[in-house]
Amino acid sequence: MRQRILIIGSGAVGAVYGHHLVKAGCQVNYLVRSKKSSNSAMPRDLYQYRLLGKTTMQRQHLRVIDKAYRDWDQVWLTLPSDALDSPWLAQQLAVFDADTPLISWTPDFRDGEKLAKLYKGPVQHGLIGLISFHTPLPGTSSPGEGFGYLLPPRSAMLDNSRPGQQAAALLRAGGVPAVALKDLPWMGARSTALMIPSIAALELSGWSLKAVRSGPWLNIACAAAREATVISAAYLGRDAGMAAKLPQPLLMNVITRLAPKVMPFPLEIYLQYHFSKVGAQTRMMLDHWIEEGHRRGLPTGSLQELRSGL
Ligand SMILES: NC(=O)c1ccc[n+]([C@@H]2O[C@H](COP(=O)([O-])OP(=O)(O)OC[C@H]3O[C@@H](n4cnc5c(N)ncnc54)[C@H](OP(=O)(O)O)[C@@H]3O)[C@@H](O)[C@H]2O)c1
Repeated sequence: MRQRILIIGSGAVGAVYGHHLVKAGCQVNYLVRSKKSSNSAMPRDLYQYRLLGKTTMQRQHLRVIDKAYRDWDQVWLTLPSDALDSPWLAQQLAVFDADTPLISWTPDFRDGEKLAKLYKGPVQHGLIGLISFHTPLPGTSSPGEGFGYLLPPRSAMLDNSRPGQQAAALLRAGGVPAVALKDLPWMGARSTALMIPSIAALELSGWSLKAVRSGPWLNIACAAAREATVISAAYLGRDAGMAAKLPQPLLMNVITRLAPKVMPFPLEIYLQYHFSKVGAQTRMMLDHWIEEGHRRGLPTGSLQELRSGL
């Protein structure tokens, strides 16, 4: 039977997952807080970049609603984590049946706790591995107006629940490399603990990869990433093990040199554009690690140094 998926949030991530769900034969609608937002304008053009090969464009024209109703096989949340505090979202989530799975793609390690209070049905989690953004990026002129995106391996990772497996299968059928993983919460916690402090360091270095490599913030970010890993592990009730040793300046140095060379779009501009857009979320995530670290008596000095710099 044709699956009906309601995606809450119709920005860069929602646009791409929605497009590929339609390719898999799903009926997809978007639920937004304002139909007047540029994120809700239809039709819109989606430009798929490839690491090797040409960029291709496809047009998306899907229904956008601003008030929830029932009767969906799955509801997906493609919002930033700070949007979970919005009264609008609480009102919308109250409408769905208790047997409708909600798949949340929000990244904060404490989102599951919040969603359990907001949603009466089962909540599953996804980890976004794709890169997507409004085009053209600032200071560039191509491709045209719309969204650009890249689908690397593991562009979507889901938990190994039945709805998670179904969602991964639908995305794969629509052309997205998607997997369902046994230990998604720990995988998500490790990757965000590594990434968010590095992004804070990049912001504090004027969004310049070169400046972050040569300035003082890289060492602080690596120490903060180690703290965040240990705190997330404690929160999830597991041993951080080797993951807490991974964030090291040498590794970040290599990544920040190599990544811009392989990306088919200007990576530094994307990072500045995207993480300025979700700056409130970055700050909230740092605050949550600091709070959780204090509660558990774990070190947070480097996280605090980053947070007070922002
Ligand atoms: N884009 C990427 O490459 C990427 C990669 C990995 C992870 N992520 C994560 O995916 C999430 C979404 O990112 P995105 O790039 O899709 O962002 P986006 O393009 O800004 O889209 C966000 C969507 O959420 C809605 N929204 C924001 N705040 C809201 C609130 N308080 N209440 C209700 N709706 C709200 C926006 O509505 P309006 O149009 O009304 O503002 C928009 O529809 C973020 O957590 C981001 O960190 C993104």
